[in-house]
Amino acid sequence: MDAAPETCVSTEWSAHALTEDRAERICDDLEQQGYSIQPSCLPPEVLAALQTQVMSLDDSAFFRAGIGRHAQHHTNDFVRSDEVCWMTGETPPGAAWLAWAEVLRTAINRRLFMGLFSFESHYARYRAGAYYKRHYDAFRGQTNRVLSLVAYLNSDWGIDDGGELVLYQNAEDRQGLRVTPLAGTVVVFLSEEFPHEVLPATRDRFSIAGWYRVNASNADAVDPPR
Ligand code: OGA
Ligand code: MN
Repeated sequence: MDAAPETCVSTEWSAHALTEDRAERICDDLEQQGYSIQPSCLPPEVLAALQTQVMSLDDSAFFRAGIGRHAQHHTNDFVRSDEVCWMTGETPPGAAWLAWAEVLRTAINRRLFMGLFSFESHYARYRAGAYYKRHYDAFRGQTNRVLSLVAYLNSDWGIDDGGELVLYQNAEDRQGLRVTPLAGTVVVFLSEEFPHEVLPATRDRFSIAGWYRVNASNADAVDPPR
């Protein structure tokens, strides 16, 4: 008997899941150093679908990124000049990405007991010259974002194109570790521990930034809020 269309889609993408040994390496890194940098990590079919989608998005799908959530949300040219588009599972590429991130979430919870509860992510477009100054994705005790996940979508990215992610080891580190935003590379790090920044590039730069959160629901507020 023929399967329902939805089942076809999810079955298809489940064939492109994170491999067990790759998940294992990410967990080893997180345990030992709090971050992991994994080149050629996104499955090629998922990567291609995401690239096609992000390139075909209309300008109106993106909005200027701001700092902070809810009431504290404001745009600030000095800190960042990228544009973002929140991802949903409503399209096949979005569904594939969320399915991939879900496999990683379960693997990390099983191995490291981080209690990761939900995931939110957006496409980010950095026009040539755009940047995101040194920042933390979360501040201790102020947010429930605990683990950051970044994936790069730029084919043929060379050293001269700039746009590196600089991952600093701690508050004092001024040198940092430079990551080339080459298609397929995935970076995972503890949101409260690693300041980081995005250097300006000579051409448009596309990435996905996502955050795993722990559940902060209480009697007065259901979490996540959207
Ligand atoms: C972010 C971020 C890094 C990148 O969106 O918070 O740090 O390399 N992105 O795109
Ligand atoms: Mn960040």
